[in-house]
Amino acid sequence: MNYSAILETIKNEIAPYARLGHQADYIPALARVNPDQFGICLQTLDGETCAIGDADVRFSIQSISKVFSLALALHFEGEGLWTRMGREPSGSAFNSLVQLEYEHGIPRNPLINAGALVTADVLLAHLDHPEEFFIDFLRTLSGNPSIGYNIEVAVSEHSCGYMNAAIANLLKHYGNIHGDLERVLHLYFMMCAVEMSCRDLAHAFLPFANHQQPFRYDGIALTTSQIKRMNAIMQTCGFYDEAGEFSYLVGLPGKSGVGGGIAAICPSRYAIAVWSPRLNAKGNSIMGMKALELFTTLTAESIF
Ligand code: DON
Repeated sequence: MNYSAILETIKNEIAPYARLGHQADYIPALARVNPDQFGICLQTLDGETCAIGDADVRFSIQSISKVFSLALALHFEGEGLWTRMGREPSGSAFNSLVQLEYEHGIPRNPLINAGALVTADVLLAHLDHPEEFFIDFLRTLSGNPSIGYNIEVAVSEHSCGYMNAAIANLLKHYGNIHGDLERVLHLYFMMCAVEMSCRDLAHAFLPFANHQQPFRYDGIALTTSQIKRMNAIMQTCGFYDEAGEFSYLVGLPGKSGVGGGIAAICPSRYAIAVWSPRLNAKGNSIMGMKALELFTTLTAESIF
């Protein structure tokens, strides 16, 4: 398969979408990003890497971090994690409060904000220095020791993170946050504020595509079955109320973030990451979605 030629075709075909949508502006620091950037990086299990555009520019991974925190929480808690959250698609916005109240403080899944806040609470219970551990984990997974947090983004979000504070308070009310609320929010905002490039993310997602080798990084071990289940959750819950649309158009397990990134995997084949800051109404990258739709169409490689 000539992946380089396919990526070039995609770059040309998505050009008409370049000015559609707006970058996230509810976090002041994200509103300052140049919205007219696009990068894509493919990493295959055979060792091939193909990248075009702004594939080496770092951006705020935002909710893509929820996949990595889920991997850690599953390692620490195993199946016990599911006593504190579900694994059903929410069909709601990522920061919805309504469903959480109806369901008595049990988040629908780990990839919405409520679930990720519980996951942060789990990490705090198991780790003395979770922020350091988390970034070291991502450095190992991506193979890039220089990735880090953008503290300005974390502080910026914390300063106006009223919805997340409300969700955390509701979780605490229902007894589903055991630790200190402010500490949980701090870790959550920091994890969202990690900056990585498409190349870093494609590398970091590759282990989730590898069903042949057990997942073992920095002492974090996941079984093949746990990897399979993480992919199932990404497939059904990775795009909030657009999970069905992403499945329909792209057909890969993946996760988006409001920074404009999307990372996805094709089991036993590849990991792919794409970034462009302009978002649609559901908070997913317009060019990113289109690029991945074209990629799985042109390669005929998806899970369906
Ligand atoms: O919790 C928030 O609002 C953000 N820091 C993360 C949101 C996000 O990326 C949702 N994703 N598409």
